[in-house]
Amino acid sequence: MGSDSIKVPRSREEILKDINYDEKKVPSFEVVSPLRKADGTMVASVEEWQNVRRQEILDFYRENVYGKAVPLPDEMRVDILSEKNDALNGNACRKEIELVFKMKNGEVRKAVMLLYTPAKVSGKVPCFVGLNFRGNHTVTPEDDVLMTGHNIDGTIFSPLRHEKVERWQIEENIKRGYAVATLCYHDIFPDVKGENTGKWEKSVYGMFFPGKSEEELHQKYSAIGVWAWSLSRMADVLEKEKNISSLAVVGHSRLGKSALWAGVNDSRFKLVISNDSGHGGATLFKRCFGESVESLCNSYGYWFVRKFYRYIRSEAEMEFDQHFLLSLVAPRALAVGSATLDRWADPKGEFLSALYASSVYKLFGLPGLTVSTQPEPDTPITGIVSYQLRTGKHDIMHQDWVGYWAAADKFLKN
Ligand code: GCU
Repeated sequence: MGSDSIKVPRSREEILKDINYDEKKVPSFEVVSPLRKADGTMVASVEEWQNVRRQEILDFYRENVYGKAVPLPDEMRVDILSEKNDALNGNACRKEIELVFKMKNGEVRKAVMLLYTPAKVSGKVPCFVGLNFRGNHTVTPEDDVLMTGHNIDGTIFSPLRHEKVERWQIEENIKRGYAVATLCYHDIFPDVKGENTGKWEKSVYGMFFPGKSEEELHQKYSAIGVWAWSLSRMADVLEKEKNISSLAVVGHSRLGKSALWAGVNDSRFKLVISNDSGHGGATLFKRCFGESVESLCNSYGYWFVRKFYRYIRSEAEMEFDQHFLLSLVAPRALAVGSATLDRWADPKGEFLSALYASSVYKLFGLPGLTVSTQPEPDTPITGIVSYQLRTGKHDIMHQDWVGYWAAADKFLKN
């Protein structure tokens, strides 16, 4: 059992000195099956998994990692700010939809979701749902999309239109018959490092809990918790869209961590995609390769609840590892993507985590991941658990999408 004391991260310099990139120094550890119950016996049926063990693991993650379920607002209004039926040279319909969250106490938070659906496809299409890092105007080649993504002082985070077009592949998504919906994560919880910057108050948490201190909120809640929550609020809107058939949740890096947590909590996401989500996402902590818990807590402690700090320099004592998280997606489709140069995120740890989560898929009579050694770069494995290792750096690019489209074609299109 992990120590109950909340530890304090050392200086950045000391932390970085201890980061391991040597496979030979990966400690040996026992891989615990998510199916093993607290009393040591194994889950014997799907019912037992769904009604008992899955809930136990979920409660554990809420308490120790990502925080409690975020409440619903007293009211959620949806305002269509713009609608264009000939977007992307006539190939897409585009909407900008403002989600307005309101509480009876007068507190309000708002965020604008950008939605593209194919204009030339008859019938319903699946939709990729994800948060973006730098604003809706950065993900589209179009010039007339609202600038979103705000700093704490209300100014726009990035003035650069189109800078992340490659990451979202909106034109090709449309061509392949997919809708895309995205919203900037800063508008839900501004991702600003450091303590007492005002981000908690500015965030959706500030609406639910006005006047509560950062310290109090951090005991029970986290940034990843509310980023994941916002993906579910997007789903609330998207499931009412007449042209959308099903939803895949997708995210890169910290937003891949958030996509996983959203996918675990919300079964409306029929495909859950983690791109380079690394530590606190898909990767196994216990391999101690690349980023450490201590490093995460030092730079981004607010992404997790305060209790998570007890695992600082104590990965070996963790009662769980991230294959537990991935296994909570079963029996829905899961896709994990890594990049060869992304050592910080430990690609091998991401692969093994998907592999170790497969025992739960097998309980459902599904194959899980169909290979037991990490595939060569650029040879995606597509299945109910997909895995791919792209050659190159930490990013989400066309080639990553190729693998995700293969999974979506298989599991969302029929
Ligand atoms: C940092 C962080 C990672 C995270 C990444 C990102 O590198 O340490 O955990 O995944 O940022 O979100 O880009």
